[in-house]
Amino acid sequence: MDIASSPAEPEENTQVADAAPPPHAPQVIHREDYLAPAWLVPEIALSFRLGVEETHVCSKLTVTRNPDGNGSDVLRLNGDQISPLVVKVDGRAARDWRMDGPDLLLELDGERHAIEIETLVQPVTNTQLMGLYASNGMLCTQCEAEGFRRITFFPDRPDVLSTYSVRMEGNKARFPILLSNGNCTARGEGAEGRHWAHWHDPWPKPSYLFALVAGNLVANTARFTTMSGRQVECNVWVRPGDENRTQHALDSLIAAMKWDEEAFGREYDLDLFNIVAVSDFNMGAMENKGLNIFNTRYVLAEPDTATDADYDAIESVVGHEYFHNWSGNRVTCRDWFQLSLKEGFTVLRDQLFSADMGSEAVKRIEDVRILRGGQFPEDSGPLAHPIRPDSYQEISNFYTSTVYNKGAEVIRMMRTMAGEERFRKGTDLYFERHDGEAATCEDFVRAIEDGTGLDLGRFRLWYSQAGTPRVAIAMRHEGDTAILTADQAVPATPGQAIKQPMPIPLRVALFDRETASHSGERLIVLDKASDTFRFEGCPRPPVLSVNRGFSAPVALEVERPDADLVFLAAHDDDPFARYEAMQSLIVRHLIRAVSAGLDETGLDKTGREAGRDAVRQACEAVLADEALEDLIRGELLILPTVAYLSEQLLVADPGALHQAREALKAWLGAELLDSFRALHDRASAVPFGRDAAARGARKCKAQSLVYIAAGDPAEGARRAFAQYRAADNMSDRQSALTVLCGLDVPEREEALADFHKRHEGNALVIDKWFSLQAGSFHPRVLDHIRTLAQHGDFTLSNPNRARALYMSAALNPKAFHDASGEGYAMIGEIVRRLDPINPQTAARFVPALGRWRRIEPDRARLMRAELEEIAALPTLSRDVREQVTKSLG
Ligand code: PHE
Ligand code: ZN
Repeated sequence: MDIASSPAEPEENTQVADAAPPPHAPQVIHREDYLAPAWLVPEIALSFRLGVEETHVCSKLTVTRNPDGNGSDVLRLNGDQISPLVVKVDGRAARDWRMDGPDLLLELDGERHAIEIETLVQPVTNTQLMGLYASNGMLCTQCEAEGFRRITFFPDRPDVLSTYSVRMEGNKARFPILLSNGNCTARGEGAEGRHWAHWHDPWPKPSYLFALVAGNLVANTARFTTMSGRQVECNVWVRPGDENRTQHALDSLIAAMKWDEEAFGREYDLDLFNIVAVSDFNMGAMENKGLNIFNTRYVLAEPDTATDADYDAIESVVGHEYFHNWSGNRVTCRDWFQLSLKEGFTVLRDQLFSADMGSEAVKRIEDVRILRGGQFPEDSGPLAHPIRPDSYQEISNFYTSTVYNKGAEVIRMMRTMAGEERFRKGTDLYFERHDGEAATCEDFVRAIEDGTGLDLGRFRLWYSQAGTPRVAIAMRHEGDTAILTADQAVPATPGQAIKQPMPIPLRVALFDRETASHSGERLIVLDKASDTFRFEGCPRPPVLSVNRGFSAPVALEVERPDADLVFLAAHDDDPFARYEAMQSLIVRHLIRAVSAGLDETGLDKTGREAGRDAVRQACEAVLADEALEDLIRGELLILPTVAYLSEQLLVADPGALHQAREALKAWLGAELLDSFRALHDRASAVPFGRDAAARGARKCKAQSLVYIAAGDPAEGARRAFAQYRAADNMSDRQSALTVLCGLDVPEREEALADFHKRHEGNALVIDKWFSLQAGSFHPRVLDHIRTLAQHGDFTLSNPNRARALYMSAALNPKAFHDASGEGYAMIGEIVRRLDPINPQTAARFVPALGRWRRIEPDRARLMRAELEEIAALPTLSRDVREQVTKSLG
């Protein structure tokens, strides 16, 4: 974590003054420069005098010289937009402290000292939502990654673990509930309507896991008995009025606690577990020890306001944050380069949890869709980085799909190679070895290696090399043997021109065409640039099913006739492989369609039918298969996104891809209209329930409506409006409104007005109202977005609302990639306007523009121009500056 240390005064953590680069030159932090801290902080006592306008913070640190440090006398206490009111060392006002930029430096000569520092912070003006801030009159904190330094001066790095004692006091009427990490050890009344509480967390933790909440909150409470028989009180805290929307989050928490005991042997370690929902939050949720803070969207749900997808997301995020108690909190990260140590592993854990709670196949398909839609583009663009990055300017920019989702895939591959049982031995060893420590990714890999007996020598390349490997597979048949040849290539990424081949585990099955069965799945590991694998006992040329379950996060190019894909889409016994076969058929067709240009009869210039009929056959099989669960049927009918389609091409024309995709949808809708009608009718007759069958029916209802509206817009509008009016749950209401939003019909306005009126005052549902309109393929979607930006309910300062309108626009190929460039201008403007308010959120809009190199030249020019306009601003946050510079670079 160290950068540019001067040899005379070796320092940890950040730069020293005389080495400070000129303004604007980016300060780059390198993983290799890590230095252990010179000083440790075994204990901290914090005292808060709470106020929304102003909060006074008194911090007492016990600091000790780190025996493993470099012996420096200098204690670096990080700060960010704060200044010290009082600095005391061992009870006396200190004289020999100085500021080094935002940091406070103290020279200490002993082995152990007591430091006391007072600061004042202004929660109400904190629009960045990092540190201590106000949300609806309530006070809360967000400290990951470097927010604690906005509250008080501290060695704000994850390898400094302290025991926290917290005293809070404030006006009782304003802040009736006072929460922090650990257990409440005392509370009492003060003078003039004030009260106080004292909290103690027995588990040493880094500063990024500190949290405090003060406000008017009510709890939904449940009790959980752990595997060793301890009682835990679990609370979900929300604003009064929201309590009847908390049951699903609370149930998910209890389920997660039980699951982690069974699946990973992990028991909860405090008597109390609190979740607090706040409506202003930059991310999804935060795993602060014993006091998770959540974006309301991952807490509040009831059937009338939350969709099935919302319910699933709540279960998975509640699980995710809970699982961090072990993978993140008990074992934390040595430095932020190790972020995937906690995030990749915890995402894998939450994926396995959700799979166990619902449908494993559906969950896998969804996770792969997220990976391909978000991570693959990241890996092939200017912001590509390994799951363990080598450098950063602003760590907030590295909470990425690569660190999270590819990180999970990398650990999943180890699990696939080891098998479930041996993998569990590896994770047991990891937790045992590193409990209470700040660990590295290398520590994790070594524990898995030692616990499973796998040799992960070359596998470590997955941690250091960015880019999605491309794997080309061909199969030939000789006698009774199928011979598979596989070649891999890892593409160049910024800063990494040359790559080495990595071990790629591929689950393979060979189907007999006549019996539509296979004689068992095999796991092959391609660990060279090129290799061949022989499969005996195949009397006939088999149909190849490969990368089943998406066993490796790679882009596959398999030589296979369309007919084989139609076969797999109908018969593969791995539901993921079935989905994959359909996707491949669709991708193939659409890529052929845009490369060659299709006429209105569906033939390309060379007169080829371009695989469209194969897609129809596969869809027909999916619609007709009575043995198929509706939840999976719904998944199989979803067309790949333009973002994923663009990934297949070196340079994409998103306009053409969007058009081809819409044309296919309309053609399938018209060709299979009767089947989609029948499916919509059948699914509509299923009464509301939260069971898999009813949820599957709703998913099929949504998908069939999409195709009906594409094939016959008038009938689509009729059915959608009827469904909207009849809906007794948000899934049906939203899927109907989604379809209406894309149609130029009077029912559109009527339904939108009704929806707004019906859900007025419910912020999360009003977010949907914004996002459905901004995400629609309506011919005038850009006008709609501009009008919505002027709507009384719109505000840039609430991240959920800002994202509802503008992230939906940025992800909407029709709006964002409009040939006029207006979509790009809109996102560019948002980055510029949001940056001074909330840089972390602003920076998240930059990658969309950063894709310009892979887009056709006319659009690329317009995208680049927007980036240049951002770059030209005199003051830019480090967050946006890093993303824009890299995107232009
Ligand atoms: N650590 C959080 C999670 O993944 C994400 C987060 C990061 C939240 C930074 C807030 C700020 O669970
Ligand atoms: Zn996480």
